[in-house]
Amino acid sequence: MQVVVTYESRTGNTRTAAQLVAGGLKDAGAEVTIGPVDTPDFKALADADLVVVGTWTDGAFFLGQRPGGAGNIARSLPDLWDKRVYSFVTYALNPGRSHEKLADLLEAKGARSLGASAFHRNRLQDDASTFVDGIIDYYGN
Ligand SMILES: Cc1cc2nc3c(=O)[nH]c(=O)nc-3n(C[C@H](O)[C@H](O)[C@H](O)COP(=O)(O)O)c2cc1C
Repeated sequence: MQVVVTYESRTGNTRTAAQLVAGGLKDAGAEVTIGPVDTPDFKALADADLVVVGTWTDGAFFLGQRPGGAGNIARSLPDLWDKRVYSFVTYALNPGRSHEKLADLLEAKGARSLGASAFHRNRLQDDASTFVDGIIDYYGN
């Protein structure tokens, strides 16, 4: 399986989370290309069976949460017609619906969203591992 993991990150948490997801998928046998959203690997995206997109939670901590860098993601990623995508956000206190809004953004680009999660920035390892298990379960069935 060919996977692209791409992320938007200001202070490194989401990059770390993306690296954990990529590592878990590689361990499961996937061929993984990883990089920031603003330098997309168009060939890898075109060839991918699955695209994973991660970003951070922006907002006023308890209200107005949204995917950070959403404009950048919308601008930088090409259309993802019928691509299967999983997405995640990292957060500090309360992600609200930011992960669902990220999935909506990707669906607006034509993707088929199979799952959207929120990883607490202090539990990246555990939350990334659960996320990867969900992907492996889906492809194992
Ligand atoms: C401007 C700004 C707004 C944020 N708003 C929220 C928020 O509403 N809820 C929340 O849980 N975390 C919020 N955070 C925390 C980040 O989402 C969190 O630290 C995330 O892991 C940062 O990811 P990064 O290191 O990849 O940039 C905010 C951070 C910033 C810089």
